[in-house]
Amino acid sequence: MSVSDLFKPLTLSHGPEMRNRFMLAPLTNQQSERDGSASIFDQDWIGQLAQSDYALIQTCAATIEAGGIAFDRQLGIHSDAHLPGLTEMAASIREGGGLSAVQLHHAGHRARPELGGIPAPASSSTVPGVKALTTEQVERIRDSFIMAAKRAEQAGFDGVSVHGAFGWILSEFMSPLLNDRTDKYGGSTENRARLTVEVIEGIRRACGPDFQIGWRLSVERYGLRLEELREITADILDRELIDYLDLALWDSAQVVQEGAFQGQTMLSVFTDLPRRGVRVGAAGKIMSAQRAAQLLEEGCDFVVIGRAGILQRDFPRQVQENPLYESPELPVTAQYLRAGGLSERFIKYLQGWQTLVY
Ligand SMILES: Cc1cc2nc3c(=O)[nH]c(=O)nc-3n(C[C@H](O)[C@H](O)[C@H](O)COP(=O)(O)O)c2cc1C
Repeated sequence: MSVSDLFKPLTLSHGPEMRNRFMLAPLTNQQSERDGSASIFDQDWIGQLAQSDYALIQTCAATIEAGGIAFDRQLGIHSDAHLPGLTEMAASIREGGGLSAVQLHHAGHRARPELGGIPAPASSSTVPGVKALTTEQVERIRDSFIMAAKRAEQAGFDGVSVHGAFGWILSEFMSPLLNDRTDKYGGSTENRARLTVEVIEGIRRACGPDFQIGWRLSVERYGLRLEELREITADILDRELIDYLDLALWDSAQVVQEGAFQGQTMLSVFTDLPRRGVRVGAAGKIMSAQRAAQLLEEGCDFVVIGRAGILQRDFPRQVQENPLYESPELPVTAQYLRAGGLSERFIKYLQGWQTLVY
């Protein structure tokens, strides 16, 4: 496969096709208003991306309940008051010719009280003094995910990306370390995956036939077990519950260090699974045209661009113009980001990532 293959369209099981193989990763930017409404800075950032030739743009993680907040100035989708800003974002992406998805997020046990968050752990032992969610509370959160997806649809988004990564609530429930429940949401692998599956199935039922559902999965830390996650993923792919799987790796070339898949790339553990009509892509240090093309070779249907998209908004266009394109090297200066059109709020957040900004 060559770089030109990245520009072939890709059909999804529901709704319009992807015009090429580039998806923008969800990127928290902490520039919304404090009530979760999209700010002019959100609109500006999305507007720049919309004109950058991505096939699909995921928004930053957006709160599905006010209590599920993890970041100051996080985008919200938990209230109809957020609809005007979200509608403007969706319209801007559509105008640029790309598909759009809101990333649906609840921080679970890591919700931040100082921001109005209410820690919502799967187990009573995770956060000192905070009891595990009751079964009814888990079902309420499930329904909030589904209501948020309906709101995304109402705002004109093509779909949602269900945030099942990085120890946030859905990932937390999957973890035998963080989930010691004895109800239907704990215990067996199937039970620990139930919240995710119910969220996805509920969204499919609640939204229209063209609505696209992505699922973002990470496979490390938080007590997650690779073998179990593979089993859960195999089932989700086999039942074609989603349109696309977005594997949130930090390095797409990463090799498994222990267990049944030791020595294999992490990516291959998932790309080797039968995927039926589901499309599979991955993020993780895709910083050049050649690396992006290589991922198609390694079994991805699409590539997910994070940091390279912050450094150079129009990564897909750069690749199209130059098959040997290489992203600028990290870290960069704040001035570089400013000159590129990022807001001061976003730059301040990025300065917290030592590997990103000097
Ligand atoms: C500044 C920043 C913000 C991020 N925000 C989110 C987020 O809101 N949701 C999420 O699932 N991942 C988030 N991530 C992870 C990225 O989506 C992506 O998976 C990761 O950066 C690896 O891809 P990359 O090497 O292309 O950057 C974030 C990463 C960065 C650097």
